[in-house]
Amino acid sequence: MSSHIQIFDTTLRDGEQTPGVNFSFDERLKIANQLEKWGVDIIEAGFPASSNGSFKSVEAISKALTTTAVCGLARCVKKDIDAVYEATKEAAKPRIHVFIATSPIHRDSKLMMSKEEVLASITEHVSYAKKYFDLVQFSPEDATRTELPFLIECVQTAVDAGASVINVPDTVGFSYPSEYGQIFKTLQESVKTDREVIYSAHCHDDLGLAVANSMAAIENGAKRIEGTLNGIGERAGNAALEEVALGLYVRQDHYGNQSKINLEETKQTSDLIARFAGIRVPRNKAIVGQNAFSHESGIHQDGVIKNPETYEIMTPQLVGVKTTELPLGKLSGKHAFAEKLINLGYDVEPEEQKALFKQFKTIADKKKAVTDRDIHALIQGTEHEQNAIYQVETLQLQFVSNGLQSAVVVIKDKDGNTYQDSSIGTGSIVAVYNAIDRIFDLNTELIEYRIDSVTEGTDAQAEVHVQIKIDNQIVTGVGIDHDILLASCKSYVEAHAKYVANSSVEEGIHS
Ligand code: KIV
Ligand code: ZN
Repeated sequence: MSSHIQIFDTTLRDGEQTPGVNFSFDERLKIANQLEKWGVDIIEAGFPASSNGSFKSVEAISKALTTTAVCGLARCVKKDIDAVYEATKEAAKPRIHVFIATSPIHRDSKLMMSKEEVLASITEHVSYAKKYFDLVQFSPEDATRTELPFLIECVQTAVDAGASVINVPDTVGFSYPSEYGQIFKTLQESVKTDREVIYSAHCHDDLGLAVANSMAAIENGAKRIEGTLNGIGERAGNAALEEVALGLYVRQDHYGNQSKINLEETKQTSDLIARFAGIRVPRNKAIVGQNAFSHESGIHQDGVIKNPETYEIMTPQLVGVKTTELPLGKLSGKHAFAEKLINLGYDVEPEEQKALFKQFKTIADKKKAVTDRDIHALIQGTEHEQNAIYQVETLQLQFVSNGLQSAVVVIKDKDGNTYQDSSIGTGSIVAVYNAIDRIFDLNTELIEYRIDSVTEGTDAQAEVHVQIKIDNQIVTGVGIDHDILLASCKSYVEAHAKYVANSSVEEGIHS
């Protein structure tokens, strides 16, 4: 029997179902590599039959990871199972997750299947998957709204057909801890087998109970928890895995079993997902929010100075939050900069380091103190620009008359070709975006525009997030710069670049 609690990360599958979140191919690979570093046991890398983009990234992640199992999602449909097999066959540890909805509302309104048909489908598809995979995970979707005797029948059928992991999804975040825990208890008591079967929890957060329900499952024998970083996911999201991992660690007196998560990589992993998803973690979010370790009231500050344990149940260092940072400044040299990169966990090639140092100097000329967050933003901005197939080359703005502004935008593609256009607008950003629209000519709708500052202070860099919609596809872009207009321009170009990159991958399906 597994002695630790397995962490199954579905940030790249269920997490990507967050409205507006659309990771690029490169981002998916970077996320998977970081999740491996964080120490998750299994990564659900995508749903290969759903799109060529998903297939290709599951395939690439399978080839890239060396220790973490890579799983693909499949409906009870043979071509889905074939796609998972093809996409994961080169993984060090290939896995499949087969599901079918079992609740009355899903059977009657979505699948139009009788109970008997659902059971037959489970037998057929779990045994089909078993021919390709040693370990097959089965999920009765909407398990918590399924009649308990029928749920037991579905799980027994899946186990008889060869499933060795049974995942119990609270698909619509409907359950509460004691009820969800009881389902695990009942399944383990009722389902008969002489093989080891792992029970797994998969909770959504519609009632804000996803983590509490996951912990209740552990109390009742679950040995695997599914969820996402920062709790991202459809609607209110999934169980936040960083909260589960820290709950197990801090309250090991109660839970006993631990996860194998490298806790000190937690903040770094959360930051990466927040950046790529374009979803800022709320300040008061447990474990990874900006305020999670800050103490405002005098009484608390006094207590923490005397003994941190008065108000801290875990240290910021435990999860990789740095509290005593030494900011760099304009007098900081190459060595101090190189050391800072290492301290922040970046492994940068010498050539790239030279280019970054130059950009750091530009920031240091404009800012008194260059903080760790500035350095993260610098690296992030560079990564975004390197990965994007289009980059902003120049931006010129001019006041015209009657409150109108004019913008000239030049962008460059990976092969060095440049494209330019100009436009006017009722404000600077409108003019810039009109000019970019003329370059791409894609019928773009701007859904969201948001400016954050990377750090506090009037000399802070601007971080602009945009969400655009083209052909019903929502894509996000981020731009970072001291100049808000340039940051706005970069974010809009990046969103378009992502759309173009995604559509060229998708086109591959039909060719
Ligand atoms: O929430 C859910 O039911 C799912 C299934 C595919 C497991 O994500
Ligand atoms: Zn889900």
